[in-house]
Amino acid sequence: MSGVVFPAGFALESLHRRHPRSTFDCGQSDVNNWLRTNSLQNQMKRLSATKVLFDQDGGIAGFYTLATGQIDFGDLPSELARTLPRRALPVAILAWLGVSMVHQGQKLGDLLLAQALRDCHEAGQTFAFVAVILDCVDDRAKAFYQRWDFAELPGSPFRLFLSSQTLAAMMTPR
Ligand SMILES: CC(C)(COP(=O)(O)OP(=O)(O)OC[C@H]1O[C@@H](n2cnc3c(N)ncnc32)[C@H](O)[C@@H]1OP(=O)(O)O)[C@@H](O)C(=O)NCCC(=O)NCCS
Repeated sequence: MSGVVFPAGFALESLHRRHPRSTFDCGQSDVNNWLRTNSLQNQMKRLSATKVLFDQDGGIAGFYTLATGQIDFGDLPSELARTLPRRALPVAILAWLGVSMVHQGQKLGDLLLAQALRDCHEAGQTFAFVAVILDCVDDRAKAFYQRWDFAELPGSPFRLFLSSQTLAAMMTPR
């Protein structure tokens, strides 16, 4: 996957308290509430990191939040767990992602996801993890991620994973 290029006039920044979060609306209240209410506090506590995409007018066109976590060996599919130790294992978490309703359908969701995965891959060169995992808010979000090779974790239809090997293959230029 080559470097992520956002359309002209759009810019990605780390979340800052001056950013206008209170009007963000992606049509999903959980996702809106996260950005409006929790994202900054969590970032200041070093629990998660959020990046915000600005449009030409300085409004928030989209965002994503990454965090680290652990997954139990037994929760991974056997083909991934086969070679791993039987204990809690490090993962990257794509905790939230949203595109404002006025900007949906312009491929910004795909671009933000590509950038989020690139961030994960680069961080993984320093702090290793076995997979990227995420929880889908609904069936539509699940369909969006499954287009990107995310697969269901056994017994958890709304929790998806992408192994670090698959991520590395995605990031390798062909
Ligand atoms: C899901 C979401 C991020 C997609 O953003 P977007 O900018 O509209 O998506 P894109 O324009 O990049 O679309 C890329 C592709 O995904 C598809 N797609 C877009 N939204 C989709 C959805 N909700 N479900 C399934 N597929 C979707 C598009 O049809 C497009 O496919 P194509 O390339 O074959 O035409 C956006 O709809 C959103 O913010 N939804 C509410 C919040 C949410 O569900 N977040 C995810 C869970 S935290």
